[in-house]
Parts: sequence; C-alpha cells; structure tokens
Amino acid sequence: MRSIFTERVKNVNQNKISEKLNSFMNIDVLLGLQWGDEGKGKIVDVLTPKYSVIARFQGGPNAGHTLEFEGIKHVLHTIPSGIFHKYSVNVIGNGVVIDPVIMEVELNALEPFKVDVNKVLFVSRKAQLILPTHKLLDAASEASKGKDKIGSTLKGIGPTYMDKTGRNGLRVGDIESDHFLDKYNKLKDKHIQLLGNFKFDYSELETLEKAWMTSIDKLRTLNLIDSEHFINKQIKDGNKVLAEGAQGSLLDIDFGSYPFVTSSNTVAAGACTGLGIAPNKIGEVYGIFKAYCTRVGSGPFPTELHNEVGEEIRKNGHEFGATTGRPRRCGWVDLPALKYAIMLNGVTQLIMTKADVLSGFSEISVCTHYEYKNEKIDYMPYDIIDEEVTPIYKSLPGWSEDLTGMSSVNDLPNSLMDYVTYLEKELEVPISIISVGPDRTQTLLR
Ligand code: GDP
Ligand code: IMO
Ligand code: MG
Repeated sequence: MRSIFTERVKNVNQNKISEKLNSFMNIDVLLGLQWGDEGKGKIVDVLTPKYSVIARFQGGPNAGHTLEFEGIKHVLHTIPSGIFHKYSVNVIGNGVVIDPVIMEVELNALEPFKVDVNKVLFVSRKAQLILPTHKLLDAASEASKGKDKIGSTLKGIGPTYMDKTGRNGLRVGDIESDHFLDKYNKLKDKHIQLLGNFKFDYSELETLEKAWMTSIDKLRTLNLIDSEHFINKQIKDGNKVLAEGAQGSLLDIDFGSYPFVTSSNTVAAGACTGLGIAPNKIGEVYGIFKAYCTRVGSGPFPTELHNEVGEEIRKNGHEFGATTGRPRRCGWVDLPALKYAIMLNGVTQLIMTKADVLSGFSEISVCTHYEYKNEKIDYMPYDIIDEEVTPIYKSLPGWSEDLTGMSSVNDLPNSLMDYVTYLEKELEVPISIISVGPDRTQTLLR
C-alpha cells in the first residue's frame, strides 16, 4: 500500500515538474545536419506561424536561405527566414557576423513586399561587423592556400570570427559610439599590415569602404537591441522562439571536417552562446537533412558521386549555391555522418527535404558504414582527410512518381515510405516533415 502511494505522489510531482519545465522550454532550434543548404530557410518560413520570434544565432552572409511562396523566390543571407510573416519578429543574434552592405541589399529586396522592418527586425548590439578588409583578408588567405583552400564563400567570415576571438572585433553597438571611426581605423590599419604580409593587392579598398560606410548609416536606422535580454524576456513571457541555424553540423568549427569548416559553432550549443539562452530553455531540436547529400566548397565528402548519378541529382535538385552560385557536390545519404550530427545536437525531430529530387531513380543507396583502415566502422573517425574512408552502401528500391503535387503523406509512394521508415529505424528519431518541393505549400506533415 505504502509503496503504491509513494509511487503515485512521485508521479504527480514529476508531472508538475515536467509541466513547469515545459513552460520554460520555449526555444526550439532548427539546424542543418549535413554540409549546409538542407532547406533550412524554407522550413523556418513554414514553421514561423508557430513562433513569436525567429532568431539567427551564428554565421553570416556565407548563408543563403531560400524561401518560395506565391511564385516568388527569396534568398536571405543575414535576415532570419521568418521575415515575411507579420505576426512574428526576427532577431539577428550576438553570434552572427554582419556585412552591412549585404544586409542593406537584403533590406532593399524586402521593400516591394511591404515588410515593416521597424516592427519585425531587431539586431543585437553584440553581433560582430564584417569590415571590407575582413573580406580582402578572406580572399588573401584563400589565395595563399592554393590547392588546399577551404573553398570559403569569400564573405569575410573566417577573419571576422578570428577578430572576435582575438578580441579585436568591431561590434554593431560600436556604431553608436562617438569613437566608432577611431575603432574602425585601428582595426583597418591592422588588417592592411596583414594584407601586406600576404602581398595582396587591396586597391579596391577605397571603393569598398565608401559603400560600407553608407550601409553603416542604414544599419544605424534599425532597431539595435541587447538581444540576450530581449529573447529571455520573450521566453519569460511565455512566447515561443525558434533559433534558425546556418550552415550545417558537418561545417561546425569543432566537430566538422576541420579545417574544411566554417568559423562558428553550427550545432545546437551555438544557439545558447549565439543568443544568450541557457541550455535548459531548449525544447525541440529539429534536424534537417536532404534525402541525399550535398557539399559546396572543398573538403572530404565520403559519399560524393563522381558519376552521372551525381550529375542527375545536381540537375534535378538545381544544386547550385544560393550565395555563390557554385555547383554543389552531390552524393548519397551518409548514416554515420547523420548519426554523429544527431548525437551532437540532441535532435528530437527530423525533417527530410528534397525527396522529390530522387523520383525516377530505380535504386536509392544509403551509406551504412565506412571501411576505414581495413575495418568496418559505423561512426565518423577523427581523420577523414588524410585517411581514406570507403562508404559501404545498402540499396533500397526507388520510386518514379512525381511528388511535387502531393498534398498528404498518405499519397507518397510505398518505396519512399519504406526509405523513411528505414532511416527512422537507423537514426532512432522520427521524421516529422517531408518536403517535396521548394514552395511553402510543398511540405507534408506526418
Ligand atoms: P538552406 O541554406 O538550408 O536554407 O538551403 P538553400 O536555400 O541554400 O538550398 C536549398 C534549395 O533547395 C533551395 O533552392 C530551396 O528552394 C530548395 N528546396 C528546399 N526544399 C526543397 C524540396 O523539398 N524540394 C526541392 N526540389 N527543392 C527544395
Ligand atoms: P547555408 O546556411 C553551404 C561552406 C563554404 C566553405 C566553408 C567555409 O546556406 O546552409 P566560409 O565562407 O564560412 O568561411 O566557408 O563552408 N559554407 C556553406 N556551405 N551552405 C552554407 O550556408 C555555407 N556557409 C559556408 O562553401 O566550404
Ligand atoms: Mg544555403
């Protein structure tokens, strides 16, 4: 008797505790599980009506997030993907690096769509600024690396984060200071010295600088806020926040295929540092992956297809970078890599995009293991750059139906659903959304 009673009291208390916890876990995180371009922008746009705030937490204009609705395609680089929804606000968090010139172009592109940026866009004073010289340094560094170049987007991302961690950076809040120009010139002079070491021609600096200063004036007109206080207040008031990742987990500065990575923490932990939120505030972690896999830029890609199948995927999926226009390298889904990303992020729901692109392939391959130093392994080893990993594949039947007009998961072909079920079993996380086209409406909820 006594033990049953104790058990009941324990359960009641646990329920109360978890209810209370849930009310505080008001931040969900959405991020890419591969090498970027998984379709984050599209899905954030679809999910935005569920949230009061959409917040970018890392990266900068290296990102290119595509949204499509009402026949129009929009590409965002710095501005969060909730921007087209009137009833949500968008925050560019402290973890982001901002090029004011690129941001101004994005703002101008929003004008015909009657987005009231004064009402729906907020920028963290602690976000770092990308200077024209950061861009030049990015180009100089890449040129000096020759064939070992990272394949950077040349947006100045690496040098800006280097200055952030080196404690030299210029932040958005500095543009409100009377000493802004002094701070700017001090950092610029440092960069000019470095460019000299690289023997890099920086004759275009003057032109770049002029445009940059004009865009800084535009930035001054936006809502500059202490975003960590703003976001935490939203959470306290019971409003839901969606943190929008950029790049992908395999490009993370710590866990990606280093050194062929970007310069920020793209994993879920980056949302905590990039927005100033505590880990216990995070609820759902949505992990997005393509029904296949792509990578743009240099670096290892075990399941890359150097054949006509890879070409076909690139063609069907329009796999060309949203930021640089470069062709994306294409290959099959890589389970050891996905499992690694799911582990790092604590993914609670999976979202599979671009299922429509695989229509017409008689077989779909999935890499289940790697052969590595003569052993069969199911995890991502430390070194996949100097040591070769050979993917071991399992084949599944493909499907031929065009999925792009389908409006319910019940319409999806059996072999696609078998693929989905197989992935869920292997990855041990449910796939809750299947995307079958670039448009908002081509999104199937399970
Ligand atoms: P992000 O960086 O993760 O936001 O992704 P990108 O926008 O760089 O790249 C994804 C590309 O795929 C964009 O051109 C999207 O419009 C497109 N896209 C997104 N989801 C789907 C889908 O389910 N099917 C197809 N065919 N295209 C999609
Ligand atoms: P979204 O958010 C795909 C890649 C670059 C390069 C490496 C380092 O659209 O998914 P960087 O400019 O960051 O120094 O480049 O990272 N990269 C991306 N690849 N999608 C992105 O963003 C990327 N952002 C950077 O191609 O290999
Ligand atoms: Mg992209």
